Amino acid sequence: MTDVLDKDFEKITLKKIGAYFGAEVSGADLSGEFDDVTFSEIHQAFVENEVLVFRDLIISTDDQIRFGQMFGELTVHPFSPNSDKIPELIIFDNKEDNPPFGTDVWHSDETFRQCPPLGTCLRALDVPEVGGDTVFASMTAAYQGLSDRMKNFISGLEAIHDFKPFKQLFDDDDEGRRELQRFELMYPPVTHPIVRTHPVTGNKSIYVNPQFTIRVIGMNEIESRSLLTDLFDLAKIPEYQYRHHWYNKTMVLWDNRSVQHYAVHDYWPKRRQMERVTMEGDRPFSSEENVIPDALKSRKSPQPIGANVNHGGHSPKRQFVRDLD
Ligand code: SIN
Repeated sequence: MTDVLDKDFEKITLKKIGAYFGAEVSGADLSGEFDDVTFSEIHQAFVENEVLVFRDLIISTDDQIRFGQMFGELTVHPFSPNSDKIPELIIFDNKEDNPPFGTDVWHSDETFRQCPPLGTCLRALDVPEVGGDTVFASMTAAYQGLSDRMKNFISGLEAIHDFKPFKQLFDDDDEGRRELQRFELMYPPVTHPIVRTHPVTGNKSIYVNPQFTIRVIGMNEIESRSLLTDLFDLAKIPEYQYRHHWYNKTMVLWDNRSVQHYAVHDYWPKRRQMERVTMEGDRPFSSEENVIPDALKSRKSPQPIGANVNHGGHSPKRQFVRDLD
């Protein structure tokens, strides 16, 4: 049995690297311009395999940028360490005096945006021999592993995403609070379907993540937290994962519409230097019917916490109401 994927590709060769998803690409020269056939084969391999690995690349930052641009406009991350000269380029140069921040949590990139990026391309410049892996989880596999009952239960639900982890980057003084407010106006919380339909493959995947997803619409806080915790935990199931160990000159391209990732921070304080570009995506949609909150209520869910429940006037007043009297 061979692990070369049996695809009718003319320009590239694909080797399977994970049981469910992930493939290594060889045969493509990514330095300089490349032809449409090569790009369309890489694009097909990308959406079908969700994570693509390119090894032993002798390419420049400009080549990486050009490669990213073939998939779409590059985005500028509002909170990441971006290059001064090229704001679309994120530079992770983590070392003793610059510990990594915020990537050791399961996430899909920037889901706090209305249109989160379709993909991310990360290239290793100087990585430690041991540690510093990136773990990917196929949320398509996670969805497919659910029981029909669970698929039915989450069908049509939506959740709110927010840039909450980055709020701690703002100073706790007047100026910091003003700045934070400015960003909150630019990036208000957004709603995405919990089951996302991939715009190219039509595959369904779980589209909530512990970094940015804060609440299921139409559920009370306890229900929302418990459903989200169960869905977040799916990324931790080893069968749905591919763990990537980095070597210098390796580049990984992942599909944010169908995978989540977790950067393992076990290498610090050793140095790990990477460059990243992120490609603009479209607004997530679901091919499932939306469940509006009233429809949820008719499924007899308990009243949301904080809802104006009338207990017949016998319950004691709450403190904030007393303070208003
Ligand atoms: C990221 O979340 O984009 C960073 C991934 C990594 O550093 O491995």
